Amino acid sequence: MKIFLDTANIEQIKHSCELGIVDGVTTNPTLVAKEKGKFKDLSGLIGTICDIVKGPVSVEAISENADDIISEAEKFAEISKYVVIKVPMTRDGLKAVKILSRNKIKTNMTLIFSANQALLAAKAGANYASPFIGRLDDISHEGMQIIVDIREIFSNYAFNTEVIVASIRHPLHVLEAAKIGADIATIPFDVLDKMLKHPLTDIGIEKFKADFEKVKGEYKI
Ligand code: E4P
Repeated sequence: MKIFLDTANIEQIKHSCELGIVDGVTTNPTLVAKEKGKFKDLSGLIGTICDIVKGPVSVEAISENADDIISEAEKFAEISKYVVIKVPMTRDGLKAVKILSRNKIKTNMTLIFSANQALLAAKAGANYASPFIGRLDDISHEGMQIIVDIREIFSNYAFNTEVIVASIRHPLHVLEAAKIGADIATIPFDVLDKMLKHPLTDIGIEKFKADFEKVKGEYKI
């Protein structure tokens, strides 16, 4: 499973990329808004993320009608070859994705909350489809079930669309996504941090250190 980082924060992206496990980044208007004032403009922020990640970086179109989404996408696509345009799952979004995919501009259909929406995204030619599982859990729907359904549907046909499990809230979401065989999980920085920690690892390190300390004088490295 590929791991994307779900943030627009440069420090978080740098720290995580150093670990060598980050394949891409997803941003959204909320995440980008949090970084306000740190860059001259949005292109500067997205360009910097692309330079660090050197993999797919999703940036979301704000426009609502197809023509405007396409113009916005064309501008974003000039920033870097790594840019992927996030397009919300609407009628106009689908129209825009179809045209952008013909024009070889990469797209990620976002705000997907049902397997049928994912099916339509794949039919339109989206490179990625992003079901938001955490937000479904929030309203007492089993978010992860739509990942199971989408996997089944996509495996029935020859779609090239990759599923990005989005709106991840905790490490169990990542574990479940990997067990289902999702293509990608886009993970917030704090969840990634929790994934790499285990109390027994820390206890183990302390114990090894203490044991070796007792005989340190007798060994040369
Ligand atoms: C994904 O692409 C979105 O940016 C993100 O996962 C949304 O997560 P949230 O529901 O925690 O805002």
